[in-house]
Amino acid sequence: MICVVDDAVQRSSQFWGEHGVAFLIETEAGRVLFDTGQSGTVLLHNLELLEVDPATIDALAISHAHYDHTGGLSALLEHVRAGTPLYANPDLFRERFSRREGKPQNVGLSMTREALAARVTLYLNAAPQEILPGVWTTGEITERPEPEGSSDYHLMHEGHALVTDVYGDDMALVLESGERLVVVCGCCHAGLLNTLAHVERAFEPPIGVIAGGLHLTSASARDLQHITDVLSGMPALERVYPNHCTGEAAFVALTQILGPHVVGPCPAGTILEP
Ligand SMILES: [Fe+2]
Ligand SMILES: [Fe+2]
Repeated sequence: MICVVDDAVQRSSQFWGEHGVAFLIETEAGRVLFDTGQSGTVLLHNLELLEVDPATIDALAISHAHYDHTGGLSALLEHVRAGTPLYANPDLFRERFSRREGKPQNVGLSMTREALAARVTLYLNAAPQEILPGVWTTGEITERPEPEGSSDYHLMHEGHALVTDVYGDDMALVLESGERLVVVCGCCHAGLLNTLAHVERAFEPPIGVIAGGLHLTSASARDLQHITDVLSGMPALERVYPNHCTGEAAFVALTQILGPHVVGPCPAGTILEP
């Protein structure tokens, strides 16, 4: 698995970085691109550096609607094979907003459902879906007793009113790797611990690897302690590859407790061991 887009790049790297994330998952059965970063410019540049022709991508999966995960989609679709399957939650097309100050800005998917359906085959389901053998969506993270990876300024429409975004579209991917699972997160708005508990309920093998945006930027010290306690108690957990929206304080906390199990930061161009 390769990190194609991230907020960060290594010094002197030829990869380009911008706020957003994309991962390329390669198995014997084919290639899945999970998220598309914020722009086609960065996504297509980094894919070219990796010598990955978009026409060789067998399936697309989208973690949630936010622009930093879907912004590269329209440019990418000019290069993928017609009818390429795209997996997401049915709530992907709901408008999403961000209001840090002033007027709310639209931060959701910039393509209509019709425009997408003209280029790809949509597989929209709130239940887990198998994309390729051993590569699954988590489906919707329905139970959320733990703090979510939310931000106060994220909003959505309910009728005509703007209300707090509940991130119903948020999902991760699960890869079966030997006797354990790899969980790949986009932004993890549903909450890291909620996502991991959902995977443990829905899939048999234990979780061995966690990667991606863990959205712990607004987690308190107490939250971080609780999260590291839970991760420390996961017997099969070998590696954590945090990037994108994980946050530096969280990265430090994870590293202090989990030590060499935390690999990162994980900028664009990083090859992740499954
Ligand atoms: Fe997001
Ligand atoms: Fe994000």
